[in-house]
Amino acid sequence: MGKKILRFGVIGLGLMGREFGSASARWCHLLNLDFIPKITAICDTNEKLFDWFTSNFDSITVKTSDYHDLLNSDEVDAIYCAVPHNLHAQVYTDIIKAGKHLLGEKPFGIDLAANEHILEVIRQHPNVMVACSSEFPFFPAAQRILRYIDEDRFGTIIEASSGLLHSSDLDPNKKINWKRMIAMNGEYGSMGDLGMHALHIPLRVGWMPQQVHAQLSNIITQRPDASGAMVPCETWDNATICCDVQTGNQQFPMYIQTYRVSPGDTNTWYMRILGTKFSVEYTTKYPKTLRTMQYIASGEQAWQVLDLGYETPYPTITGGIFEFGCSDGLLQMWAAFCDQLANGRDKMLQPFYCATPDETHLHHRVLTAALQSGKTKQVVTV
Ligand SMILES: NC(=O)c1ccc[n+]([C@@H]2O[C@H](COP(=O)([O-])OP(=O)(O)OC[C@H]3O[C@@H](n4cnc5c(N)ncnc54)[C@H](O)[C@@H]3O)[C@@H](O)[C@H]2O)c1
Repeated sequence: MGKKILRFGVIGLGLMGREFGSASARWCHLLNLDFIPKITAICDTNEKLFDWFTSNFDSITVKTSDYHDLLNSDEVDAIYCAVPHNLHAQVYTDIIKAGKHLLGEKPFGIDLAANEHILEVIRQHPNVMVACSSEFPFFPAAQRILRYIDEDRFGTIIEASSGLLHSSDLDPNKKINWKRMIAMNGEYGSMGDLGMHALHIPLRVGWMPQQVHAQLSNIITQRPDASGAMVPCETWDNATICCDVQTGNQQFPMYIQTYRVSPGDTNTWYMRILGTKFSVEYTTKYPKTLRTMQYIASGEQAWQVLDLGYETPYPTITGGIFEFGCSDGLLQMWAAFCDQLANGRDKMLQPFYCATPDETHLHHRVLTAALQSGKTKQVVTV
């Protein structure tokens, strides 16, 4: 039997729009799937970006600078939307109202109010499938960590930490772009940009913070614009959010870091959970290395190092001993979105589904409380 074709429109053909293009172009990497995405329509207000798509995808029949053309097209079943944060609420709700399924980018609304508006429109359109992009939980190490949490291995959890660290903003000569402007990126700054990456796994496993205390820093306060003139750079560069988590009979501190100025870190996602019986630590800086420590009372305390291979939720052609990277995470996430679209969440070929709109709402509540805490220097109840 032929594969089910899922016809996609892409709105926003920048960094992430092209990543989706590339993932769909190497669908043959994935094994045993009975569905396949096909890009039929593209949209960006910058028409210079059309060429890369049209020269690589002969399936495109609609190219436009007005996204409504995709919403009105019979050639489009679902849309991937990767546009600046100030446009999320308007564009996402228009997509959903048009009856097109949506994989939207984080933070899923520039602020809590925008997120709640998107969620309200989702509730009014229950037949439209909507999810949020977040690829790191699809990494082999992240899947292991999820399994360890599910198996309740940790004993009493001592603390958890998770973060996403970038370094390019350390360079004061880096030109300002929309991600450094409150009007387009949002008042959250780096928390809105990177928070979903750090919070997705904690929220999926029910580690919703009850209270937060956040330390926010604006380190580089001016940047050159396109003409070279120095302009204010107003967004928070770095955030450390100290969270109080209560889950079941456990209560522990959780530290969330979203850093745009983290010397030497390119796109470093990490997670560490320390427990009285078991601990685990992973960072994408050492992409294969998973560190774990099992502890038995009065026994030795010795960390173990495991070289992880290409253990993926969806099987692929890649040798099991090869390394896994960010574009592989995106491919796996895309497989999960298409799987859910083709088969429904209860009948997916593997159980880990993409971030849900409700999870984006929880993450907005955490970020909004963190923003208030950072400004007032108070502990804030989420
Ligand atoms: N999942 C991830 O790892 C990841 C990584 C980076 C960015 N993102 C998210 O993806 C989204 C986009 O970020 P990016 O890095 O791709 O940005 P980008 O600036 O590279 O691309 C955004 C594109 O949107 C286009 N655009 C702006 N207004 C538009 C409109 N009205 N109609 C159509 N197109 C329009 C711009 O011309 C640009 O090409 C953001 O929400 C961001 O947070 C996610």
